[in-house]
Amino acid sequence: MRYVIGISEDAHKVVMTATTPGSYEYQSEAQFFFYIYNNGGSRHAAYTSICGSGPNSAILHYGHAGSPNDRRIEDGDMCCYDMGAQYFGYAADITCSFPTNGVFTDDQKIVYNTVLNANRAAQAASRPGDWWSSRQEIDDMISAGLGRVFQPHGLSHFLGLDVHDVGAGVAGYKNHLPNRFIRAMLPGMVFTIEPGCYFIDPLLDEALNNPAQSRFIVGDVLERFRGSGGVRIEDVVLVNEDGVENLTQIYLERLKD
Ligand code: GLY
Ligand code: MN
Ligand code: MN
Repeated sequence: MRYVIGISEDAHKVVMTATTPGSYEYQSEAQFFFYIYNNGGSRHAAYTSICGSGPNSAILHYGHAGSPNDRRIEDGDMCCYDMGAQYFGYAADITCSFPTNGVFTDDQKIVYNTVLNANRAAQAASRPGDWWSSRQEIDDMISAGLGRVFQPHGLSHFLGLDVHDVGAGVAGYKNHLPNRFIRAMLPGMVFTIEPGCYFIDPLLDEALNNPAQSRFIVGDVLERFRGSGGVRIEDVVLVNEDGVENLTQIYLERLKD
């Protein structure tokens, strides 16, 4: 798994520098494939590469046959690229978010730093024996379902012989919640940590019309971010005796204000 993650993150770096305004999303996908096969001997990706630019960066499983990474990338677009190689059956699953021209706007920095802080906070708080589901958002925001407006996906899943690994035997999901990682962490487990923040018009409109959710939202600030897409930062971690080791060494650490 360290090997397949290493190839994948090296490929991410190459793709990031090669993604220029005027290029197309499918060219980023092609560069990733070329790198993992040519340099890493990895013949397959672990899943369909998600190369979302601009507004497409808010589409969670973008890149499939119905929307095949076919947009022209414009100057200043955020790109949210979720790509992982497969090697000897083992999967990587990494997401990097970056602006096309390499320069974050102030608003892009706010979103990026927020997601990065969430990622690092989740890693720092992870300890074997603790329950993954016990560390989430502030209680009343959770009750209002606000998390699902800005991050309509889970924070984590097992990874291994599949990108959403079933985690057989003792590592399995709870029977009554087959798609959610709700269980105690144990040394040796490998899973993703993938917070995101997205601006998805139908979800935002619904939230603004729901008093339980709209009381947490500053409308005119939200309008600034509409249409800007989304950011996800997805790392793979290994539970050890004391906490977790981040197997993903590709860092775009906190951006200066
Ligand atoms: N690449 C799919 C996922 O992050 O779960
Ligand atoms: Mn994932
Ligand atoms: Mn992913």
